[in-house]
Amino acid sequence: MESKLFLLLVTVGFTVIAGEYVRPQPRKDLQVPWDAKPSSQSQQVHISLAGDKHMRVTWVTGDRSAPSIVEYGTSSGKYSSVAQGESTSYSYMIYKSGLIHHTVIGPLEHDTVYFYKCGGQGPEFQLKTPAAQFPITFSVAGDLGQTGWTKSTLEHIERCKYDVHLLPGDLSYADYLQPRWDTFGELVQPLASARPWMVTQGNHEKESIPFLKDGFESYNSRWKMPYKESGSSSNLYYSFEVAGAHIIMLGSYTDYDEHSDQYKWLKADLSKVDRQKTPWLLVVFHVPWYNSNKAHQGEGDSMMAAMEPLLYAASVDIVFAGHVHAYERSNRVNSGKSNTCGAVHITIGDGGNREGLAQRYEHPSPEWSVFREASFGHGELEIVNSTHAFWTWHRNDDDEPVRSDQVWMTSLVSSGCVAEKTHELRKILMSP
Ligand SMILES: *[C@@H]1O[C@H](CO)[C@@H](O)[C@H](O)[C@H]1NC(C)=O
Repeated sequence: MESKLFLLLVTVGFTVIAGEYVRPQPRKDLQVPWDAKPSSQSQQVHISLAGDKHMRVTWVTGDRSAPSIVEYGTSSGKYSSVAQGESTSYSYMIYKSGLIHHTVIGPLEHDTVYFYKCGGQGPEFQLKTPAAQFPITFSVAGDLGQTGWTKSTLEHIERCKYDVHLLPGDLSYADYLQPRWDTFGELVQPLASARPWMVTQGNHEKESIPFLKDGFESYNSRWKMPYKESGSSSNLYYSFEVAGAHIIMLGSYTDYDEHSDQYKWLKADLSKVDRQKTPWLLVVFHVPWYNSNKAHQGEGDSMMAAMEPLLYAASVDIVFAGHVHAYERSNRVNSGKSNTCGAVHITIGDGGNREGLAQRYEHPSPEWSVFREASFGHGELEIVNSTHAFWTWHRNDDDEPVRSDQVWMTSLVSSGCVAEKTHELRKILMSP
């Protein structure tokens, strides 16, 4: 008792003397309440964009014969349309998942609130479709997990009136314990059932077991993204378009060399991008290429070597990554140096998982690094029009979404880089 008190005094004393800001500690895993629901009632409802004017509704039922229908309409309780979907399930060692339903609804009007019900019963949900044109707001946070900090991050995201959430990998931190995928689904349902959540996978989604389990089984079953809709053969990489932005979600843990399926798909996808229609080009993946934190140093190097020349030729505006549990924003960069025609790289793996923050940085800070801070938080990207976007990063410390970093960005379309590189891009895209 006495020694504890002494330790406390010493700690407080040091803190006061050093005058240093003390980073909050990691928070414990949440005990997500698991109410016993009728087994045919929808749980873990989330939505995602599924091609032009369509949305995929995903939910889980305990009942393995529950129907995969979604009734929906623009007024509460009155459903003018009904869509039939499909369902899947998986087993993982002794765990058996509920029935996972995926039902695509649409065509939907832009910028419109819809009311919907899953499986013909249970509570009504509400979603809002994104507008057809700018402005549009994306919220961004990776490495979420399900701790007290995650809760704080989710509360701040909910307050920000976003249209689409971008998640650069590491969702549930289930880490082989499958019921944690279910609790994560329940935790994010209030947000993810109301706005599309577009995700890509991180290392914590892999859950492979040598000789027994290939990777990403739970992730692919539960978080089905519009890969078929975007011409991809794998749920691990895909693209979508929303209000003047073309967004490419890549996989850091699947092949990416120039002979890989992912690379070939990326070339095909880039050849379809029309910068008149979608002036902003964003890319999202898990392992950062520009990272001056000591955590995960160099892990993105081989993917960067394989893909950066292509993304540079394509004039990608912004790259979002996660993995490192801290926030960092770069200048426009290419090939390791600031470059006005390169992408801004933002590491935002600070959603609040139980592993805590990555607090050690390389010194001196590299020339391309503009802002770095080890705090939990989330980002908001408001694309105002074809030329301007406003980026803010809000840290969670003290449980308030304090806006800590902010910057106006101008698009590469408006700076002339896109036009300048058209020829170079065409050459790469045409090469076998
Ligand atoms: C785009 O928005 C910015 C910031 O509000 C403004 O200064 C600019 O004039 C707008 N450009 C166009 C083409 O509307």
